[in-house]
Amino acid sequence: MQVINFQSIVLAVLAAMHLQVASSETVLGAYIYQRHGDRTPKIIGSPSLTALGYEEVFARGSYYNKRYIVSNSSYQIDGIATDLVKLSQLNITAPWDNVIQNSGAGWLQGLYPPAGQAASQTLSNGTSVEPPLNGFQLIPIGTTSSGSGSESAPWLQSVTGCKNAQVSSNNYFSSDSYQALLLSTKSLYQSLLPMVKATFSLSDLSFKNAFSIWDVLNVASIHNSTKEYPALQQLNSSLMNELFGLASIHEYNLAYNASDPVRAIAGAVLAGQVLQGLNNTITSSGRGNKLTIQFGSYATALSYFGLAQLPAANSNFTGIPSYASSMIWELVTNSSLENGFPSTSDIYVRFYFHNGTSAASPDLESYPLFNQPSLLLSWSDFVSSSQAFAITSEAQWCQQCGNSGSICSAADSTASNASVSATPSSAGGISKAVAGVIGAMVTLGVILGVEALIMLVGGISLTRKRATPVENFPAAEKVASPAKQLKDLGS
Ligand SMILES: *[C@@H]1O[C@H](CO)[C@@H](O)[C@H](O)[C@H]1NC(C)=O
Ligand SMILES: *[C@@H]1O[C@H](CO)[C@@H](O)[C@H](O)[C@H]1NC(C)=O
Ligand SMILES: *[C@@H]1O[C@H](CO)[C@@H](O)[C@H](O)[C@H]1NC(C)=O
Ligand SMILES: *[C@@H]1O[C@H](CO)[C@@H](O)[C@H](O)[C@H]1NC(C)=O
Ligand SMILES: *[C@@H]1O[C@H](CO)[C@@H](O)[C@H](O)[C@H]1NC(C)=O
Ligand SMILES: *[C@@H]1O[C@H](CO)[C@@H](O)[C@H](O)[C@H]1NC(C)=O
Ligand SMILES: *[C@@H]1O[C@H](CO)[C@@H](O)[C@H](O)[C@H]1NC(C)=O
Ligand SMILES: *[C@@H]1O[C@H](CO)[C@@H](O)[C@H](O)[C@H]1NC(C)=O
Ligand SMILES: *[C@@H]1O[C@H](CO)[C@@H](O)[C@H](O)[C@H]1NC(C)=O
Ligand SMILES: *[C@@H]1O[C@H](CO)[C@@H](O)[C@H](O)[C@H]1NC(C)=O
Ligand SMILES: *[C@@H]1O[C@H](CO)[C@@H](O)[C@H](O)[C@H]1NC(C)=O
Repeated sequence: MQVINFQSIVLAVLAAMHLQVASSETVLGAYIYQRHGDRTPKIIGSPSLTALGYEEVFARGSYYNKRYIVSNSSYQIDGIATDLVKLSQLNITAPWDNVIQNSGAGWLQGLYPPAGQAASQTLSNGTSVEPPLNGFQLIPIGTTSSGSGSESAPWLQSVTGCKNAQVSSNNYFSSDSYQALLLSTKSLYQSLLPMVKATFSLSDLSFKNAFSIWDVLNVASIHNSTKEYPALQQLNSSLMNELFGLASIHEYNLAYNASDPVRAIAGAVLAGQVLQGLNNTITSSGRGNKLTIQFGSYATALSYFGLAQLPAANSNFTGIPSYASSMIWELVTNSSLENGFPSTSDIYVRFYFHNGTSAASPDLESYPLFNQPSLLLSWSDFVSSSQAFAITSEAQWCQQCGNSGSICSAADSTASNASVSATPSSAGGISKAVAGVIGAMVTLGVILGVEALIMLVGGISLTRKRATPVENFPAAEKVASPAKQLKDLGS
């Protein structure tokens, strides 16, 4: 009896010690890159978030509320507002895109849920006013590609993307690995004709269109029953896994090539934004942004995975991340905050990935960045390793992309000789507004490049006419057109 008691005391002490260790680490801030949820466009060119997608992103936002916001979480971001959002602590951006903007809005509802009575304000005459919808909290999302009056707008409308990245992605189609897969998968793709014949002609059914073919079938398999669409009966999960694997190879190779880094320009810009966001938390001693959130789509994530050598840690990083997946960079310290914000040398970065709808658990998984063993990187190591590929200025973007006109001509005249590895400086660098825009444009460039390639190489006509860059943006979301898809499956 005594022994058992002794053991349980030891266990209790150990448990207490463990808790202490865990709770000694403080989260100072975080950067989250969040993919949108399930989408079902109703008509060609107008994709929208589905109820399922809304539910997915809301659940993820709620998870981050429990991790970073609530006061009893051991990962609560130091000093972050708990019940009522404090907008100065957040920096939230998304491109102008219905699916991604709405995913952001749904996610934010989970991050800071309606506050009820706590959100009430009392007027001078004593009347208390509670905001609509049970104290719903309004959180603006900065758009990274809209605003006709902003300084970035003219550039947005006149630039189609990063030239060198488009050329680089195009080169994939002449690589041996691509040609080999094109041949070896030909009969597999051609066998899909009965399921997709209204969208793709037989000659379009090949590895060339691996992503769009998989995407059409994926949306259909989520939303349409085999009873209504008998052709779907041929769509078993092993076939879908095979098509998804091929789509991932296709997309990863368009997003990243180790010997041709400009292909991953979207990830390089994201890396620069992460540096900027986390650096803002540090240089403001936590008084600036604490949580930066960027909503986006998978291609940027794939580019970053490649650049940060995540496939070396886990080969699954070459797969397309699932709906509602996220990348998280957390700033942590073991220093006591009693004497103020810790010095930079006591600050570390930990990277996490959560694979959204295909993750086994809601919890985040930590992975080592940059093909080194540790999950924890000192801030200075994180900065130097990121700077090896991060784009932190407009001049650098222009130089790497080989673009000249438009905004790059201004950069040409002032900074054409900027070193690629130069550290960012707010004086010689890029305005904050433009920095965000570059991120969006780079993503757009890659998406448009890929779309253009699909159209050129595959001969598919994406029927919606392009009017403006703003209209162009959702191209990636347009690929699966349920209108067509319904026709396919119904026929
Ligand atoms: C925090 O408090 C909430 C509500 O009181 C509770 O449901 C939750 O389990 C607590 N979380 C932790 C980590 O203690
Ligand atoms: C107090 O002011 C608000 C807003 O002007 C008004 O709607 C409300 O009727 C006032 N209440 C009283 C008791 O005067
Ligand atoms: C990667 O780039 C190199 C150099 O441009 C090229 O030889 C190779 O084929 C590319 N690989 C792929 C998969 O595109
Ligand atoms: C097929 O899926 C689409 C997308 O969710 C939906 O709009 C449509 O109603 C579905 N059709 C049937 C017959 O279930
Ligand atoms: C899945 O479908 C493919 C093509 O219709 C078929 O060849 C294969 O045998 C099926 N696999 C299973 C496990 O049913
Ligand atoms: C962080 O910001 C400071 C002040 O703006 C700047 O001097 C420094 O270069 C920045 N560091 C990084 C890694 O961006
Ligand atoms: C990749 O993911 C699959 C399924 O989630 C898992 O079974 C496998 O262990 C993962 N691979 C690695 C290297 O972790
Ligand atoms: C995320 O899930 C997708 C789909 O299951 C998979 O292909 C990919 O490898 C996963 N990524 C990671 C890092 O586990
Ligand atoms: C904090 O200390 C614990 C226990 O020694 C350690 O596991 C953890 O990695 C440390 N975290 C940081 C940010 O130094
Ligand atoms: C850039 O470098 C070239 C060659 O070294 C030089 O001729 C040119 O004047 C430089 N441009 C600027 C803006 O410094
Ligand atoms: C918000 O973040 C974006 C990039 O994610 C950055 O370009 C912008 O400067 C940030 N805004 C502020 C006010 O820090």
